[in-house]
Amino acid sequence: MRVLTADHPLIAHKLTYLRKKDTDSPTFRRLADELVTLLAYEATREVRTEPFDIETPVSATQGVKLSSPKPLVVPILRAGLGMLDGMVRLLPTAEVGFLGMLRDEQTFEAKTYANRLPDDLSGRQCYVLDPMLATGGTLAMSIRYLVDRGADDITAVTLLAAPEGIEALGEQIADLDVPVTLVTGAVDERLNEQGYIVPGLGDAGDRLYGVV
Ligand code: URA
Repeated sequence: MRVLTADHPLIAHKLTYLRKKDTDSPTFRRLADELVTLLAYEATREVRTEPFDIETPVSATQGVKLSSPKPLVVPILRAGLGMLDGMVRLLPTAEVGFLGMLRDEQTFEAKTYANRLPDDLSGRQCYVLDPMLATGGTLAMSIRYLVDRGADDITAVTLLAAPEGIEALGEQIADLDVPVTLVTGAVDERLNEQGYIVPGLGDAGDRLYGVV
């Protein structure tokens, strides 16, 4: 697994305000949205394109357009929804599939509780959105789910990642035969005993959508 940590002063600035405990939900949502758009630029660096002949007002030329099948963006419910708009702003023609994963708060194991994805993902590049890479269980399970259906190139986009989570994710998907890239806004210090990223930003889902 290739890991790309975004290195940009705007990302660092926005992440700092996102982390602050007194940042309210509307501001948190706006910052998350802006951060994802910046991360999306990095995450789509290898999005597939094909040659496209056009005419400008001056001459004929060859450009490129996104290849078919179009990329698939997969937010992991619920917190990944807060990253969807920021991602499709840069990839407006991408299709969107949904995957619902719950983390058991005792065992930290991920379980699928909902999915709305095409059955056949052969030849698809997939962008998986989940703000927090903590233990790695949810992302590992999601990536396997997509690869089992034929996806052949996966990029996971997270706002924050814990070093333990990156290592565990790498181990849990080591046997997969497709390229997997992780693009993250920052790699934090560690995971605490409750499975929270330190210093982190708390529960991303709660901060986006409230405690429900
Ligand atoms: N999920 C969150 O929302 N926050 C963490 O710190 C870890 C997992």
